[in-house]
Amino acid sequence: MSRPSLGGYGRVRRPNRVGGRAGGVEGDDPTVSEPGFGAYDLVVVANRLPVDRKEEPGGSTSWQPSPGGLVAALEPIMRRHEGAWVGWTGAPGEAPEPFDAQGMHLVPVPLSEEEVELYYEGMSNGTLWPLYHDVIVQPSFHRQWWDSYVRVNWRFAQAAARQAARGATVWVQDYQLQLVPRMLRDVRPDLRIGFFNHIPFPPYEIYSQLPWRRQVLDGLMGADLLGFQRPADANNFLRACRRCGLPTRRGEVVVPDEHSPHGRRAVRAAAFPISVDTAALDEIARRPEVAERAREIRRELGDPDVVLLGVDRLDYTKGILHRLKAVAELYDDERLPLPGTVFVQVATPSRERVESYQALRDEVEVTVGRINGVHGQLGKPAVHYLHQSFPRDELAALYLAADVLLVTALRDGMNLVAKEYVASRFDEGGALVLSEFTGASIELTQAYLINPHDIDGLKNQLVNAVRDAPRERSRRMRAMRRRVWQHDVGRWAQDFLQALERVRPGDDPGGEDGASAPEEASEPASPELVAVGGRDRRSTDHPGSDRGDVDVRDADVRGVGQPVPR
Ligand code: ADP
Ligand code: F6P
Repeated sequence: MSRPSLGGYGRVRRPNRVGGRAGGVEGDDPTVSEPGFGAYDLVVVANRLPVDRKEEPGGSTSWQPSPGGLVAALEPIMRRHEGAWVGWTGAPGEAPEPFDAQGMHLVPVPLSEEEVELYYEGMSNGTLWPLYHDVIVQPSFHRQWWDSYVRVNWRFAQAAARQAARGATVWVQDYQLQLVPRMLRDVRPDLRIGFFNHIPFPPYEIYSQLPWRRQVLDGLMGADLLGFQRPADANNFLRACRRCGLPTRRGEVVVPDEHSPHGRRAVRAAAFPISVDTAALDEIARRPEVAERAREIRRELGDPDVVLLGVDRLDYTKGILHRLKAVAELYDDERLPLPGTVFVQVATPSRERVESYQALRDEVEVTVGRINGVHGQLGKPAVHYLHQSFPRDELAALYLAADVLLVTALRDGMNLVAKEYVASRFDEGGALVLSEFTGASIELTQAYLINPHDIDGLKNQLVNAVRDAPRERSRRMRAMRRRVWQHDVGRWAQDFLQALERVRPGDDPGGEDGASAPEEASEPASPELVAVGGRDRRSTDHPGSDRGDVDVRDADVRGVGQPVPR
């Protein structure tokens, strides 16, 4: 992989502070702020730091890698470019002082016990996560959660403002922090601000349920560039803007801006599909000890003919129950012979106090127990279920040991596991069964693509993936490997940051009305939303729903509230 140039971002500068203190934006009150300057040319702001703080039984503290795709993608970028990373430690309570680790300056942001409950488990993962993932489970809307979300977003914005040098680039990540761009711009208009959404952006018919849909769009409008995983996400976002009365043209939204010489500014929205560190994964997989561990895993599994693998956070978006159902039926039908086949499902613990995650865990564990009860033999379970996290090397060995990786997400922004599997298969072995509802399916078109709601279709493709001739499987894997080598995470970051660098703050974005394209202009704005751009971040007004106004022209509303087919 080429080491991309990020235009010199992230070099640590000598502190360049004004006003006698770093940042000068203290306190939790959004109305009290004084701009100041920090020391970093590149600041990433994400809900989580790349490491989680764990309290050990003896009272000591240890740091472990954080779960999830965001950290997996950004960590190699930040290691190379020595930027500052602002985020939460994963544990409630006081935050430690900023510290340097592995080439990164880590700036912990504290969350109280109550904020973990209201902002993280509540608004982020009880409201936005299910809403943005096609309401696979019902989102909850609570004004207290929203208030906490506003407060915590403000705290992250302040922390970022303290770290950023004059004119620095701040890159805000994901749905937990959608208000940060606007808050940051208000206190630091000198910054170049990017935002990347790691998860889907839903069609307006779903988005419009959000009582704070105006405020969230307004929060995002603080950015110069908004990145999404798929073109469909960027389009959904632009359509939401139009429906809310914001003029758009050619992928840009025009917003009022008192700091711009023209009194307005363009916010660009576009797709930048995220990827993995292909060279690093390839290198790990080629290590002799990893190959040996892969052989050992197969031995431990009883030297089966076929190893099927699933690797996911234990999340209802991942379609784990759909996949279990398909595998169980293939065992029933004897199309996957037993004991020659084993299925290994690795499910990282995730969001364990959120009710829908607890319910999913129960259901997965009951289902695995049922399958093993019927199909297992002494010492030979038909499904190996591991509710654990593993180090990178062990995951690489699992990828190498697996004949087929099953990615059956009902909706997924990207799904980096699919790309990691491909990047690890330097031997061009293995086969990928991939849901068409993942961002990855747009790029990995040589996978065995499936609709996870179509259990028969999923079963057929899984059997094809197992039985196809090695030449056909290698042909597919080779084509997918070309893609992940060309579009690795370095390229993703480079594309995004260079596009952000091209934003010229002084440019006039064009006509007053934003010259909407004809088909865009024909979309009515929701009457109560025309005044987006307002400043009431603390508003908890419920504007009601305009569901009567639903327009189903975007045929992108899939998998809504779908149970596992019977
Ligand atoms: P999400 O961001 O929703 O969690 P992704 O598939 O994009 O989904 O990313 C998941 C990341 O978490 C990948 O980098 C994957 O390697 C990692 N991961 C998943 N399961 C485990 C596990 N059991 N142990 C360690 N890492 C895991
Ligand atoms: O990619 C979506 C995401 O929410 C990331 O923001 C995060 O890294 C990952 O999933 C894991 O989620 P959490 O931080 O809630 O454990």
